[in-house]
Amino acid sequence: MDVVLRPVVAADLPLLAVGDAPYDDFGPRAPRTEPYSPVLREHGGMAVCDTGGLLLGSVSWIWQQWGPMPESRNPMIGIGLRPEARGRGAGTAAQRALVDLFFRHTSVNRVEACTDVENLAEQRALEKAGFTREGTVRGAQWRDGAYRDCYSYSILRADWSAS
Ligand SMILES: CC(C)(COP(=O)(O)OP(=O)(O)OC[C@H]1O[C@@H](n2cnc3c(N)ncnc32)[C@H](O)[C@@H]1OP(=O)(O)O)[C@@H](O)C(=O)NCCC(=O)NCCS
Repeated sequence: MDVVLRPVVAADLPLLAVGDAPYDDFGPRAPRTEPYSPVLREHGGMAVCDTGGLLLGSVSWIWQQWGPMPESRNPMIGIGLRPEARGRGAGTAAQRALVDLFFRHTSVNRVEACTDVENLAEQRALEKAGFTREGTVRGAQWRDGAYRDCYSYSILRADWSAS
């Protein structure tokens, strides 16, 4: 499935409510009132649409750093699709499109993602998007009354160039 990433606009916000899936249920949260920044070097996000412009969901990213050097910063990406948009390849395509943006428009060497060890759909979508599972991050994520193990995934610039 082909998707388009574009900046989130205010009209999208009511359609991007999160928390319906078990893996993004982090309790009551105030509705988002400001669109994500689409600037790749800041924490941010973008809307995921089909080629006809229908809003399917959103991708987002935060930056983290593996040491003191600024070159060691990399984005960790996340995704949430509207229920009716799941299971048709949009999650794979959207995460691949976001990886393309980071490698084309920034100098990062690595894009990361992580997901619950039970979130088989996201694991598969990441693998189809070119990510490699790196290992288990134990007890990392507090969700729904317990600390959860996650799998860590990455795609390196060299992986992306070779694909
Ligand atoms: C996770 C999510 C982004 C994946 O996107 P998607 O568009 O549904 O996924 P895709 O259609 O691209 O691919 C899903 C793959 O997982 C497989 N899959 C789906 N559910 C599965 C399950 N329960 N067990 C095993 N495989 C499963 C699909 O068969 C497909 O693989 P295939 O193409 O080899 O058949 C989307 O389902 C979603 O938004 N879920 C709710 C929020 C969420 O979990 N976000 C991620 C938090 S880390």
